[in-house]
Amino acid sequence: MEQDFSKVEQAALAALHAIDAEAGLRAWQAAWLGKRSAVALALAGLGQLPAAERPLAGQRANALRLQLEQAHAAHAAALRESGLAASLQAGALDVTLPGRPAARGRLHIATQTLRQICAIWAQMGFQIYRSRDVETEACNFELLNIPPHHPARDMWDTFHTTIVETEACNFELLNIPPHHPARDMWDTFHTTTSGSLLRTHTSPGQIHAMREYAPEPIRVVLPGMCYRYEQITPRSEIQFNQVEGLAVGRGIRFTDLKGTLTDFARRMFGAQTRTRFRASYFPFTEPSAEMDVECFLCGGSGCVVCKQAGWLEILGCGMVHPKVLQNGGYDPAEYTGFAFGMGPERIAMLKYGIKDIRYFWGNDLRFLQQF
Ligand code: PHE
Repeated sequence: MEQDFSKVEQAALAALHAIDAEAGLRAWQAAWLGKRSAVALALAGLGQLPAAERPLAGQRANALRLQLEQAHAAHAAALRESGLAASLQAGALDVTLPGRPAARGRLHIATQTLRQICAIWAQMGFQIYRSRDVETEACNFELLNIPPHHPARDMWDTFHTTIVETEACNFELLNIPPHHPARDMWDTFHTTTSGSLLRTHTSPGQIHAMREYAPEPIRVVLPGMCYRYEQITPRSEIQFNQVEGLAVGRGIRFTDLKGTLTDFARRMFGAQTRTRFRASYFPFTEPSAEMDVECFLCGGSGCVVCKQAGWLEILGCGMVHPKVLQNGGYDPAEYTGFAFGMGPERIAMLKYGIKDIRYFWGNDLRFLQQF
């Protein structure tokens, strides 16, 4: 009997070690450990043996089954390992190499600067007021004290809404006829007023904010894109952001304007930043001014960024013109206010030494990835 077990053991192990692919293992397991295997049959046949032989035969059969199971597990593990090594070699894949870094998105430098400016104004108690990009002639000009044919209109070359999308291009020509149910997918702002235009500055938002809040006091900033029908040059783009500011209330004075804007400059450019105000002209403010900040690159001693002036112009501002207050619904005998408008791209250009405004919307990743 012992001889039989030894033969089974030898044959089984020889067959096992001849297996070089994982598929062979299953067949081996069925043959040598399955229901009809020699070991299983020996265990099943124990009852037919003379009583004296049973304990020994039982022990031997169980020991053999255990041995074969362990040999099977060990061989399976060895095959798996050598299989991995082979496939690694074949594919020349090194799983220990570090992975490729996932590219991270980022905010556009104009958006970053816009948000930084808005965050500072928010800290100073100004609310964000969203105004529209498509404006009426009235809000963009007349109500801001810029009548038709006024020479000041030259300051804002305008895109009239002939370039705003037509019903045809937005819908019909894209196979969306009028009254087609698919129109529900795009809720549309129609430009109802004829003579509408793309806002040339954020100042028309002053009118909207005043008409919404009058006669309550106002402290808002209006960020947004502006459009001008201009030649594109290193210093002027046809689209750019502005952040408009407006404060209206009783007893607001020019000193409030100066103090508030100087505080902003210190929060934006550093606590030591000095400011200076130069007289200027805007139809919707009286008096009007432009604010310069001391050049943060050279500290005022003169360099290429400030063109040796020591000062950088960053915004236009002034006391809200009485006519504009009136157009907004405030009695100019009782209320005063100040307003300002600054360009985030211009501030970013100064801050980062960007020489050409066309980089902002040029979509060149080599530029954008620097910020
Ligand atoms: N709207 C002016 C411009 O675009 C800037 C400005 C805003 C000036 C508010 C004064 C007050 O040039």
